[in-house]
Amino acid sequence: MTILSGVQPSGRLHLGNYFGAIKQHLELQTSSDQALYFIANYHSLTTMTDPALLQKHTIDIATDYMALGLNPNKAILFRQSDVPEVCELSWILSCCVGKGVLERSHAFKDKIAKGLDPSVGLFTYPVLMAADILIYRSTLIPVGRDQVQHVEMAQDIASSFNYRYKTKVLVHPEMRLSEAPVVPGIDGRKMSKSYENSIPIFPDKDMTEKQIWKTYFASIVTDCKTVDDPKDPNDTLMTLYRLLDPLESTDFQTSYVRGGIGYGDLKKRVFSAYLTMFGEAHERRHSISDNTIRDILLDGGTKARTIAQNTMSLIKTATGIA
Ligand code: ADP
Ligand code: TRP
Repeated sequence: MTILSGVQPSGRLHLGNYFGAIKQHLELQTSSDQALYFIANYHSLTTMTDPALLQKHTIDIATDYMALGLNPNKAILFRQSDVPEVCELSWILSCCVGKGVLERSHAFKDKIAKGLDPSVGLFTYPVLMAADILIYRSTLIPVGRDQVQHVEMAQDIASSFNYRYKTKVLVHPEMRLSEAPVVPGIDGRKMSKSYENSIPIFPDKDMTEKQIWKTYFASIVTDCKTVDDPKDPNDTLMTLYRLLDPLESTDFQTSYVRGGIGYGDLKKRVFSAYLTMFGEAHERRHSISDNTIRDILLDGGTKARTIAQNTMSLIKTATGIA
C-alpha cells in the first residue's frame, strides 16, 4: 500500500486540516509500505502571490508535521516542487482529459461564483493533482471531503490513460475519508484558511494562553439558548468537543442535549481539551529549527523524485515520447 497526500502552504494548519487529514496521515505512516506527504507549493501558486509568505508557510507546515509526530524514517515528507516531473506528467495527463470534465469541478465553480477571474492554472488544478497521485503509483489517498471530486478525477484520468495507451502503468488510487470529513470553524461554516474562521493547531508563539482563549475559543459563535435550554448535539462546540475529547464528551453530550449546561461551560472544556491534545506538540515545535526542516525536505524530495522518475520512464515508453 502506498499512501499519498498533500497540503497547500496557503496558511497555518488548523483543526480542520488536523482532523480532516493530518491525523490519519500520521496514523497511516506506520501501517503502510510507503507513505508520502508533500507541501503542494505548485498548487498554491493558483492563489498565492507573496514569495516570502509562500516560503514561510512551506517551512511552517513541515515543522507542524514534525511536531505532530511525523517520523521521516517512516514517511517521506517533501516539497511538491522538488519533483518537477509532476509538471511534465501533468501535461501528458491534460491530453487525456476533456475540457468539460474540468468545467464540472466544484472547487473551480465555487471560485468563479466568488468572482475570481480564473487562471489556466486554477482550471487545470485537478490535472496537476492527478499527476501528484499517479506519479508515485499511490494506492490510498487520505483526504477531507472537499477533495473527493479531485481524487475521483485522478481515478478517471488513470483509467483513460491506461485505456488510451493499452497499458497498466497507472495504478487506480482509492480514497480514504477521515472520521471528521468536515470540521466546523469558529463561525460555524467549514473551517478554512480562506474564511478566517480557523483555530490553528499551533497558535503564534508569542500568544499567551489568555489570548488564545479569547481569540479562538471564547469567540466560537453560538445561538442565544439559555443554560436550561436543550442544546443541539451537532452544533459547532459539541462537534469540536467530540473530536478533541472523544471519551469525556460522550457522557457530557447527554446532559448537554437535556439542558442545564451553558455554552460558556462547554467552551472552557473545548479549550482545555485542545491544550491537553496539543500541549506537548506545542512544546516540541519550539525545539525544531528551520535548518533541520530544510534538510528533511531535501532528503524527502530526493527519495520522492527517484520513485517519480521510475514511473515517468514507464509513461514515456507507453506514450511513445521515449
Ligand atoms: P483549507 O481549506 O484551509 O485551505 P486545504 O485545502 O489546504 O485547507 O486542505 C488540506 C487538507 O485538509 C485536505 O485534505 C482537506 O480536505 C482537509 N481539510 C481542510 N479543511 C477541512 C475541514 N474544515 N474539515 C475537514 N477536513 C478539512
Ligand atoms: N488539493 C489538495 C488540497 O487543497 C492538496 C493536494 C494537492 C493533494 N495534490 C494532492 C491532496 C494529491 C491529495 C493528493 O487540500
